[in-house]
Amino acid sequence: MQISMIPEPKKILAGEEGYADPAIREKKVNPDMGGEEYRLQLKKDGIWIEGGSETACLYAEATLEQIRLQCKDELPCLTVEDGPEHSWRSFHIDCARHFIPAEELKKMIRMSAHFKLNKFHWHFSDDQGWRIECKRFPLLHEIGAVRRGDHMGNYDSDETEDRYYTREQVREIVAFCGELGVEVIPEVDMPGHVTAVLAAYPQYGCRGERIPVETQAGIFRDILCPGKEETFAFIEQLLDDLLELFPGNYFHIGGDEAPKEYWSSCPLCRKRMKEEGLETLQQLQGYMENRITAYLKSKGRTVIVWNEAAYGGNLDPDTIVQLWTDDKENRLGEHMERGGRAVISIVKNCYCDYPYGITSLRDVYELEDCPEGLAKAGNGILGTECLIWTEHVRDVKRLETFCWPRFAASAEVGWRGQDRSGYLSFEARMKALLPVFEKYGIHAEKVSGWVPAQEEADRQKAEFEKNFSAEDRQEVEKMQEII
Ligand code: ACM
Ligand code: ZN
Repeated sequence: MQISMIPEPKKILAGEEGYADPAIREKKVNPDMGGEEYRLQLKKDGIWIEGGSETACLYAEATLEQIRLQCKDELPCLTVEDGPEHSWRSFHIDCARHFIPAEELKKMIRMSAHFKLNKFHWHFSDDQGWRIECKRFPLLHEIGAVRRGDHMGNYDSDETEDRYYTREQVREIVAFCGELGVEVIPEVDMPGHVTAVLAAYPQYGCRGERIPVETQAGIFRDILCPGKEETFAFIEQLLDDLLELFPGNYFHIGGDEAPKEYWSSCPLCRKRMKEEGLETLQQLQGYMENRITAYLKSKGRTVIVWNEAAYGGNLDPDTIVQLWTDDKENRLGEHMERGGRAVISIVKNCYCDYPYGITSLRDVYELEDCPEGLAKAGNGILGTECLIWTEHVRDVKRLETFCWPRFAASAEVGWRGQDRSGYLSFEARMKALLPVFEKYGIHAEKVSGWVPAQEEADRQKAEFEKNFSAEDRQEVEKMQEII
């Protein structure tokens, strides 16, 4: 019998004739193995598990779970020797645009861990909501988590959304991730995508004017002011507040889609540029990200940014850059030539908030995980990320259906890198593993929807594009010119 596994293990060796004893005889950490490597042996006298760490042993157990789901008690004798190509295999969930309840988030995390995704990029702050209880700045959740109306895209409603995770819930989710071998990467997007922050604390924007939490999707002009020292004091205290909750190695500080119109006319921003010898507004963003990074480094953290933060060409080389757009003017390439590292999450392949008619399962599987130009710049590509943004995701069924099985495809891309077997092999194995989704109670997209025929793809595309009016598109284009 052909046994399907996802991510496909690097090596599967056939064993003796006859069935294996299903009892686990031994599970041990072997310090001589790589931290994510494991060996799983199914033998006549039982099952042996060895891994380079506790997490690697969990990987072996996930592989075993897939084998058991297909073979029941008639386990074949075999040995799996496995380990990932990329150490960075993250999944991102936007809990700001629409709040994802803690229980649902755990369900998504558990499913992701099953496929050996190892980092949860938790996006909890954006224009449309700040979603974590904050001790030092309580207005963030008292004002920033309350949205009067939901007018994102085609959807129009006066319903309120007034929800955030309590600190207790955050701790619980972080601990839950830890048990599953998943590292949490919190993100506070700065200096842009901060309407909900400025709704609570308007004094840290250039204009200082009170603005409401956004009820529409888009890119917005009010961003944090790097001309004011108070802004940095605020950010540092806010980070202190969050570092108590997130003990992991990494912290994402955003940096995408920050229109600089108000910086351009702000006397304090201009003064800062002059004093610091910064020639462009993009360099001013680099300066700001570097100051925040220096603070986080002093607390032992490694910082990640979206690739626009590298446009100024002055980003701290220790910063990890997450590529989602084109590498405008080869800024990421230059960053990597200076020793910088990157995570690949290109919209066309990695964004699971688009319907399958725009981003098919095949598109996700066929991500170029080591883009040619960047791979040349050294071996600084850490891995990949799959994402879901939730402007147009208002219920958990859509969340799950959009993510699964696309997140599983991304997991295999990260695990096998360029050595993967090809989409048709992946698709056949995914079909055989559908019981996994049933077991975890996940609403996955049905097989016929994975790679929709042209007519259906066109229909889904047209339906989705109704979310973007001609004015919205024009506005986004205008904003992109000033980023
Ligand atoms: C992004 O999609 N704005 C990173
Ligand atoms: Zn300013």
